[in-house]
Amino acid sequence: MEFKDKNILLGVTGGIAAYKSVELLRLMKKAGANVTVAMTDAAGHFVGKTTFEVLSENPVLSDLWTDTESSVRHIDVASSSDAAVVAPATANCIAKLAHGIADDALTTTMLALTCPTMICPSMNTDMYQNIRVQNNLDILEQTGMHIVDPDSGVLACKTTGAGRLPEPWFIFDRLGALLTKKDLAGKNILISAGPTVEAIDPVRYISNHSSGKMGYAIARAAENRGAHVTLVSGPVNIDAPVGVEVLGVESCVQMAEAMLGCLPNADIIIKVAAVADYRPVNPADKKIKKTNDNDGLTLHLSENQDILKTIGSRKGDHQFLVGFAAETNDLDAYALGKMKKKNLDMIAANLVGGEYTGFKADTNKVKLFSKDGTVTDIPLMKKADVAHKLLDAVLEQLP
Ligand code: PMT
Repeated sequence: MEFKDKNILLGVTGGIAAYKSVELLRLMKKAGANVTVAMTDAAGHFVGKTTFEVLSENPVLSDLWTDTESSVRHIDVASSSDAAVVAPATANCIAKLAHGIADDALTTTMLALTCPTMICPSMNTDMYQNIRVQNNLDILEQTGMHIVDPDSGVLACKTTGAGRLPEPWFIFDRLGALLTKKDLAGKNILISAGPTVEAIDPVRYISNHSSGKMGYAIARAAENRGAHVTLVSGPVNIDAPVGVEVLGVESCVQMAEAMLGCLPNADIIIKVAAVADYRPVNPADKKIKKTNDNDGLTLHLSENQDILKTIGSRKGDHQFLVGFAAETNDLDAYALGKMKKKNLDMIAANLVGGEYTGFKADTNKVKLFSKDGTVTDIPLMKKADVAHKLLDAVLEQLP
């Protein structure tokens, strides 16, 4: 959503990490952006112009003098850009940008930009830590550019330390955040995601099919929109969203403790997690062995705390509480019943059990019911986009 139809300038300078900018370009294109690459002569020693040209589907800006399209194409590109990123940015390029030197296609275009700009330094550790490079980065930061710190690790020059270009997905994520309106700035948002697992013995448990995708998408969208996000997560196989504080839990008891502990500071609470309604009474401390009689095994279950209902009974007037309802049938009636019973401000109802909605799917279709009677249909779309629509609806309802 952040990249759809956006004009992005991708600056590439001459570092070994230039190969990563190819993947960064692919991610942006896949997300719907129109990307123009501006590269230095040195960058051309690492990745050919044709690669960028073919993948971006745009002529590469590399030479101010032989551009046949227009003599001021660098100005056209600069003024139409919604965001710009230089990845990798060498010490030489950083120095030129910091001091307003415009002696090639990239630096000349950069000087004409008025959009948000991100710089991703990448070089040998000693070069990166050199006070002159650091001073230049300070100048860029003070003049409004966003600096993405390099990763640490073994570098191409065989030294170990800071200087490695972060992975393309990370740069893509931070650029997405740069492109997103900050309409949740100053808000503390508490989100739960994923399943809970309830131990039967040390090797077995009761759980459900939640992958965490829906909750993580909301956490990522909220962080991108400027919120401080705390995500209480059951066990899932997805990376933590950048910039989000993640508290990992397993059982409903642990999720309740984490959620209720964070509750006083939260302005908005969104409970996406699929919490097990029951847990085995007295889980065995050793693996339960198979017996040879044919009586089977009876598990005694006790009801778990309804965390959402507890939050509903404790929330203050300033707090906005959103629950989810996962249903296989009678969606509206069950969702409305849950909203009332649990004292929610909004409930997001979705069908589970299908291929494209609910558990595990990358897409979802959600019906939002608000306490004031407003109903918002979010048609089938990617969970990342559902997340933004849901946050839009929350913002509209906030006091
Ligand atoms: O994680 P994904 O694979 O992306 O799937 C997303 C999802 C289907 C899990 C998500 O969209 C969803 O519907 N989440 C709610 C799952 C659920 O437990 O629904 P429920 O109708 O059983 O519970 C209603 C609400 O009460 C939920 O907000 C739930 O978090 C909360 N609850 C339920 C039981 C309990 N003991 N404590 C709770 O807080």
